[in-house]
Amino acid sequence: MSAIQIQGLRPLKGTVGIQGSKNAVLPMMAASLLADGVTVIRHVPEIEDVFSMMGILESLGCKCSLEKGVLTVDTKAASGHRIPEEYVGKMRSSCLLLGPLLAGRGEAVTYYPGGCVIGKRPIDLHLYALKRLGASFFEAGGMILARADRLRGARIRFSYPSVGATENAILAAVTAEGETEIENCAREPEIVWLCRYLRSMGAEIQGEGTHCIRITGVKELKAGNMQIPPDRIVVGTYLCAAAATRGKITISNPPEGELDAFLEVYGKMGGQYNRRSGKLIADGSGTAFPVPFLETDTYPGFPTDLQSPLMAVLTTIPGKSRIRENIFENRFRIVEELNKMGASVAVSGREASIQGGTCLRGCTVRARELRGGAALLVAALAAQGETVIEGCSFIYRGYEHICEDLASLGAQIEEDTGTAFL
Ligand code: UD1
Repeated sequence: MSAIQIQGLRPLKGTVGIQGSKNAVLPMMAASLLADGVTVIRHVPEIEDVFSMMGILESLGCKCSLEKGVLTVDTKAASGHRIPEEYVGKMRSSCLLLGPLLAGRGEAVTYYPGGCVIGKRPIDLHLYALKRLGASFFEAGGMILARADRLRGARIRFSYPSVGATENAILAAVTAEGETEIENCAREPEIVWLCRYLRSMGAEIQGEGTHCIRITGVKELKAGNMQIPPDRIVVGTYLCAAAATRGKITISNPPEGELDAFLEVYGKMGGQYNRRSGKLIADGSGTAFPVPFLETDTYPGFPTDLQSPLMAVLTTIPGKSRIRENIFENRFRIVEELNKMGASVAVSGREASIQGGTCLRGCTVRARELRGGAALLVAALAAQGETVIEGCSFIYRGYEHICEDLASLGAQIEEDTGTAFL
């Protein structure tokens, strides 16, 4: 059982580099199936979700290797169309392979996807988009069987701008016959990165980053070559850790302008930040003001993935803060653990009310999902005494070397392997 031990109350200070983005790399890995050849992707984080996606690609006949952040995917011998159940249960992004498999093989077999336990997370919007492009779906014995003789461009209008469904629609449409228009699509930076990547492979796409994406299908794509951008959610998590400990840290490779909504809240709490020579310097020593109301939203709103780490910071600020979670209905599971540590957070439906400034005390807590787990790390750094975080495999699904990074910033932190970083 993996666990992390932390002795809190040490202000973080120093400089840290940021891993490649998990949410950007996964759809690009799925896109490798659209070309016949060797895809090369650099600055790839060595995290569980990437390993799972590699496992799926290998089960489909691809040859994959990941060394020192360089991922290669050779699709020359790939011919499979079944996504193995073991990976589907582990990772929701496995359903991103439906689009490329239907485009390339005309069929796909999968199961209902898994991933973080943060809500119902249906895939109806994925299926809707693929059906519009000509796919049919059948359910048999818990499996989803998908077929499409030929994908054809279509008008897709989402009732909600789902990130994953937008990615799936794009992946399926780039080699479909004719024009596709995706309305009310997601505008997240990961969509923009995916479109840039596909364009470098020969796709014809316009409008990414707006509410409407237009695609003209092409006959074939060439294998891709890409550098993954830094992970904006990891940056936000580390800035939360700096704020919770009233520390000051420098991010050596911040993303460009992808964190504005988060930084605005950071400033409101009393944190300061500036960019110098391509670096982001964040001074959390003045963090002192509660946030009367904050709600998560689709991009460019406040990201749901940073809601829990921010909540951990707000428990350290005297006064009342309130958060409304609009994206995932079950993203307050961390509250019980924070309250065990001495926080005072009350949840009513989609809203959490935080009475901050109570003294956080170390104890044993359990991570139950990725971002909630990261938030427990943030709280532990600000708590008196020792905190033991169990269930750390959830944290490693998204954070490549969070313990080493925090240790390099002065945290006293150990993993259960017995390896002391400080
Ligand atoms: C992606 C990110 C995740 C982030 C989320 C929102 C990846 C690998 N994960 O997840 O980190 O928190 O965007 O920014 O990129 N929904 C439906 N039907 C569908 C699809 C989604 O009802 O077919 C609902 C979901 O249950 C959820 C909401 O839409 O309530 C948002 O989901 P979506 O935008 O699809 O998020 P993901 O792509 O799963």
